[in-house]
Amino acid sequence: MAATIMLVDADALHSSDLKRFLQNQGYMVVGVETGRTAIERCPEVKPDLVLLNSVLPDISGLQVCKRLKADPMNRLMPVIMVAQDSDAEPFAANRAYQSGADDFWNRPASRWDALNRVETILQLKSYIDQQAEEVLFTLARSIESKTAMMTGHSERLCEYTVQFGEHLGLRTDELAVLRVGSLLHDIGKVAVPDSIVLKPEKLSAQEMRIMQQHPVVGEEICAPLRSFRHVLPLIRHHHERADGSGYPDGLKGDEIPLPAQILQMADIFDALTTDRPYRKELPVNAAMAIMHREANQGLLSAKLFREFSIFVWSTRPWKDFKEETSRFAN
Ligand SMILES: [Fe+2]
Repeated sequence: MAATIMLVDADALHSSDLKRFLQNQGYMVVGVETGRTAIERCPEVKPDLVLLNSVLPDISGLQVCKRLKADPMNRLMPVIMVAQDSDAEPFAANRAYQSGADDFWNRPASRWDALNRVETILQLKSYIDQQAEEVLFTLARSIESKTAMMTGHSERLCEYTVQFGEHLGLRTDELAVLRVGSLLHDIGKVAVPDSIVLKPEKLSAQEMRIMQQHPVVGEEICAPLRSFRHVLPLIRHHHERADGSGYPDGLKGDEIPLPAQILQMADIFDALTTDRPYRKELPVNAAMAIMHREANQGLLSAKLFREFSIFVWSTRPWKDFKEETSRFAN
């Protein structure tokens, strides 16, 4: 995936020249001319690096930098402040660093000089991202290990979702989203007190409100990392329901991203077919009957559930199905 650079510069000639040069080196470059546009477009563009001119037509580069860095989503996004005129502001570098800039340049000697500096910063960011990813995977595993009965849940979920995704004919990159999303989807529970996460009884309305924040918190935790960008919709929407009764956004039907629907289906199936503090595991056919009822009630996509049924029973020999049914019938 080519790195994306946002170039914030009102000098059309300089900007288009540098933009073309960076594009020729394989970068995606998004050029904007004003500070407000940069702030508005950052959440959508999610640049890997911002090259920010210190002087802009509307607000100063310092203000833009401060506002960008105040957003937790941009925590790991390097911002380089580029001076308009190095002689005019003797303390410009200090001011840039105080506003949160990661580097301060006077106009680089050449475009190649600029390229070398950009590459160095992107390599450093990539290294930091890798370290942060490892930390987040470890954090997700530690949250799961708090509950003995949940141990192995994410790995099972990962297996189910990826196999179901393959059954649906998803592409390799879409399967990768399911794999990473299965491992990280509940990472936001780090912000939920253990007394709520581990409570075996039904949650109170207030406890439920706290619990329902975990998809939003999970999205905020993973958002600064480039490699987790495609997983964010799955993390945020894995508790939406097809009839709009889910959370956090009450999305309906096809508004719910497909990876989130796939994960949710596998999650419900795993929850029903494993021991929980409040009940023993259910046989597969009983679990499927419950999910069938939910699909009929409009809580799950009926179309996707039909595929899920085909997938589940195609992965289980008929002999196992009969044995399982009789085991639980006795
Ligand atoms: Fe969850």
